[in-house]
Amino acid sequence: MRPAAISLLALVGPSQAGLIRMGCSQLNIQRIDPLVAPGQAPSSHVHQLIGGSSLNITMEPIKHDLPALSTCTSCQAADDFSNYWTAVLYFKARNGTFHRVSQLAPQGFEGQTGGMTVYYMTGQLADTEQKNSNKATAFKPGFRMFVGDIYARTLEEALPYRQLTYTCLQDMSTRWPETKYFPTKPCAAGIMANVRFPTCWDGKNLDSPNHMDHVSYPESGTFESQGPCPSSHPVRLPQLMYEVIFDTKPFNDPADWPEDGSQPFVWSFSDATGYGTHGDYVFGWKGNALQKIIDEPCYVNCKTMKTQSIEQMNACTLKPQVVEDIDGWVKEIPGQNMGV
Ligand SMILES: *[C@@H]1O[C@H](CO)[C@@H](O)[C@H](O)[C@H]1NC(C)=O
Ligand SMILES: *[C@@H]1O[C@H](CO)[C@@H](O)[C@H](O)[C@H]1NC(C)=O
Repeated sequence: MRPAAISLLALVGPSQAGLIRMGCSQLNIQRIDPLVAPGQAPSSHVHQLIGGSSLNITMEPIKHDLPALSTCTSCQAADDFSNYWTAVLYFKARNGTFHRVSQLAPQGFEGQTGGMTVYYMTGQLADTEQKNSNKATAFKPGFRMFVGDIYARTLEEALPYRQLTYTCLQDMSTRWPETKYFPTKPCAAGIMANVRFPTCWDGKNLDSPNHMDHVSYPESGTFESQGPCPSSHPVRLPQLMYEVIFDTKPFNDPADWPEDGSQPFVWSFSDATGYGTHGDYVFGWKGNALQKIIDEPCYVNCKTMKTQSIEQMNACTLKPQVVEDIDGWVKEIPGQNMGV
């Protein structure tokens, strides 16, 4: 396997490329999925959802105007009312019961309630003559996408989603190595799920039936290595990436791990391999706020990005619409008697 060792902050220096890096607190944790299963409450498995407060069980493209309907956002960028979500992790005890693993605030966002880090790599080479040649184009209103295969349980099945990986955190700044499967040994500081979305768009469709066909990874290489977009998907999008850090520390005692030597963590959709990892995105930046940041260009400290405090991020929460016991020791992961 090609080592997916992409040390984000090491490879992308301030003089080389544009980058938004922001913390986002959790809006809530519940079984809804407005992209893949609109209208379903409960949907099949538990998610952690972040971003704009207009999040709802159904969010019709275009009609559901995220910036207009939101009154707050749980993300640092005050103009970003997008919604971002992933599945959550459970620990399986030796007695067969499960406990949800909570999310940790990322470095620089200490005090953030759970959530994740969201990156947009904007591709501008600030100080070179290539400055405008590889600039990314912001997502359009109504745009949404999904990446991953919830049914994947082998490396072969997971490989098409080549930039979905895990990092076994030794400390909060570990960025290497990355694996396609769950870490096999206890990780001192937690397990980080890295979700990198495709970066090439067909330029026409805001969505597609499987929520993936309208986008593509570069023909070769990656966004970071400036891999070219295929002619079917010629529009270069920002590299959207989530880092979700799961606080596995309370479950690191080898005496609590399975006697057969396997690892004890399982996604909320019953995947104990890690290959089924996936992520969801519904674009919702206000006006041209995202394009302005791309055009600045800037690395992390973006003058054109309106920000809010961690207290304000944390204050933006939503009461779950699906109420059930997702925490505590549970005999079954919620919804998993109905399959993934
Ligand atoms: C979700 O949608 C329903 C039905 O359209 C609406 O009544 C409700 O206010 C919405 N909730 C939020 C949080 O916007
Ligand atoms: C199962 O194991 C966990 C972890 O050791 C423990 O906290 C819990 O009480 C146990 N549950 C039952 C029903 O024995």
